[in-house]
Amino acid sequence: MALEVETNSGTKIRVRNWAQLVIYKCLINYQLTIRSESTLREDSLKVPIDLGFTAKDIAKAVQRRDLIIVIDVLRCSSTIATALTNAAKGVIPTRTVKEARMLHKRHPEFILAGERKGVRPIGFDCGNSPLEFSPQKVKAKHIILTTTSGTKAIISSRDAKHVFIGAFLNARALAEVVSKIAEQEKTGISLVSAGTNGNFSLEDFVCAGAIARYLPASKVEYSGAVSAALLAFQRVHKSLYGVIKFGSHARRLKSLGFKDDVKFCCQLNAFQIVPFLKGETIVQLIEVATKT
Ligand code: MLT
Repeated sequence: MALEVETNSGTKIRVRNWAQLVIYKCLINYQLTIRSESTLREDSLKVPIDLGFTAKDIAKAVQRRDLIIVIDVLRCSSTIATALTNAAKGVIPTRTVKEARMLHKRHPEFILAGERKGVRPIGFDCGNSPLEFSPQKVKAKHIILTTTSGTKAIISSRDAKHVFIGAFLNARALAEVVSKIAEQEKTGISLVSAGTNGNFSLEDFVCAGAIARYLPASKVEYSGAVSAALLAFQRVHKSLYGVIKFGSHARRLKSLGFKDDVKFCCQLNAFQIVPFLKGETIVQLIEVATKT
């Protein structure tokens, strides 16, 4: 079947798949919103919201002193949100498998989890499938987690004052909390996609739009990229799985037997959890709020 999008001037563009179709349609719609966006930018009282497409954008977000939300829908962010919802005490991200193993030697009581090339490294207790992090397994436990892109992106964000972890699973709960913090502290918010091996990631882009959707529109100022992500989300929110499954990472996970993970990670607002980096450990925000 040939897929085409029509621009405002009537030109037809042929696209290769549904994911491209959605993005093109959103970008075309975005052209229509540029005028209203530039009006918003004149109001300096609003919280600026930016979007970085890959982990490389983290350094810029740290420089701007923004509150950072790291997004890695498939699957690091979703796994962290699930583990904390199921009462894990905390998740400690590490960059490498070696570091994870060394930390586990010092703390054999912690769960050693993660993936390389999507699968569980030899000797690890768990992979990176959120479905593995059941309450029976993780309740009251610490988890050491190392993943290809997600945990590295979180560690690269550590110099920011506030680092949160975002997914479809917790988009609304997270947006409500971060907008208050950013407004109080007069900082911007940077949504940063961990990406897939340094590349653009469809699911993280749409998830950035989901989080933007739940920020109070009258108090924030979207960058062009955020507006495009928001439009993408608005177009596909009724069938997130139906679109995300065409992304390259989702297709790779399916080929590895993790189709159910993709479905699970596409549930919108299933959790109320707000994961937050406290020192070296990701905990849920409630705990931070009551202890400090
Ligand atoms: C990553 O951090 O690269 C991902 O979470 C990979 C995965 O799907 O396990």
